Order: sequence, then structure tokens, then C-alpha cells
Amino acid sequence: MDFEQLIQQRYSCRHYSPAPVDDQLLDKVLNAARLAPTAANKQPFQIIIIKTENKKEDLLKIYTRDWFVQAPIIFAVCSIPDEGWVRHKYDNANYSTVDAAIVVDHITLQAADLGLGTCWIGAFNPQPTREFLKLPDHVEPIAFTPLGYPLDKAKDKTRKPLSDLIRYDTW
Ligand SMILES: Cc1cc2nc3c(=O)[nH]c(=O)nc-3n(C[C@H](O)[C@H](O)[C@H](O)COP(=O)(O)O)c2cc1C
Repeated sequence: MDFEQLIQQRYSCRHYSPAPVDDQLLDKVLNAARLAPTAANKQPFQIIIIKTENKKEDLLKIYTRDWFVQAPIIFAVCSIPDEGWVRHKYDNANYSTVDAAIVVDHITLQAADLGLGTCWIGAFNPQPTREFLKLPDHVEPIAFTPLGYPLDKAKDKTRKPLSDLIRYDTW
């Protein structure tokens, strides 16, 4: 699939088959995550692979939509701010959240290329997330996504026109 088709084809999937994801496809998705660029190549992230079987009740405390637990796998992408690149010279901005977001984007695009569904989930509840994943204090959960075979179809993309999104030279 060429890149233009791929970015059209990726969509937020909200209905998944429980069928297991082929290990080779899972490896490809994880390798795409590994190849994501990060600030100063610090790679300040971890991907927690959660098998949903027998964990659905707890997972639904994290994000309450039924479709969250339909797929066989959920990824939790976490950042490690202490390991991230910091713009020390000017304002100490920490880029680890940006890095983790790019990782999620690589996951979603590679998955779409393989015919797998994903959906960014930012509206999760952090407290049960920390408990369920046993996150140490220095780790931040950034996003979840299910990974599985889609049972729904992409809707038309609703996006602002480019003219609403770009400016030239100054604000
Ligand atoms: C950072 C981020 C957080 C999101 N959080 C959620 C979420 O919590 N629940 C959800 O159903 N969709 C979530 N989405 C999916 C967006 O709603 C979706 O990407 C957007 O509506 C565009 O649709 P598309 O992904 O199908 O192109 C999130 C997307 C992003 C990028």
C-alpha cells in the first residue's frame, strides 16, 4: 500500500474480532514502534502488551467502552520522562510525551498496512491504569490501543480544510 492510501485507510476501529493476532503481524507492529523517531534518539518509552483474555473486567475500569476489550491484545504505551530529551538550554520542555505519541502513530499505521485495527485511547482513567499495570511513579501512561481484526469499516474522514490549518510565515 502506498503511503497516501495508508493514511486514508487508517481509522479508529471501534469493533474488533476476538480472533488471535498472528505472531508475525504482532512482531511487525512492534518493530514499527521500535523504529519510531524520538528526540535525541532517547527512546524513553515502554509498550506494555496486554492479552485481554480473562482480564476484561479490570480493563473496563480503565476505559469503559465494550469495544476496548473485544480485541485479543491491547497496547499501553508509556513514557519515561526521566529518560526523555529535555530542552534544557531554553525552557526545560520534556519531549517524552511527543516521543510516545509518535510510537503510537507508527503502531496504528503499521497495523493498518497489515489489515489490523487500532484506536488511540487517551480518555482512560489514570488511577486504575496505574494499579492494573503496576506502573512505578516515574512512568506515565500516554495512550492505549486495542490491536485486532476490525469488524467495522472506516467512516469518511472529517477534517478541517487545509486552509483552516496552515498559516504562512507568522501566526
Ligand atoms: C491523542 C488521541 C486521543 C484519542 N482518544 C480517544 C479515546 O479516548 N476514545 C476514542 O474512541 N477515540 C480516541 N481517539 C480517536 C479520535 O477520536 C480519532 O482519531 C479522530 O476522531 C479521527 O478519526 P480517525 O482516527 O478514524 O481518522 C483519540 C485520538 C488521538 C489522536
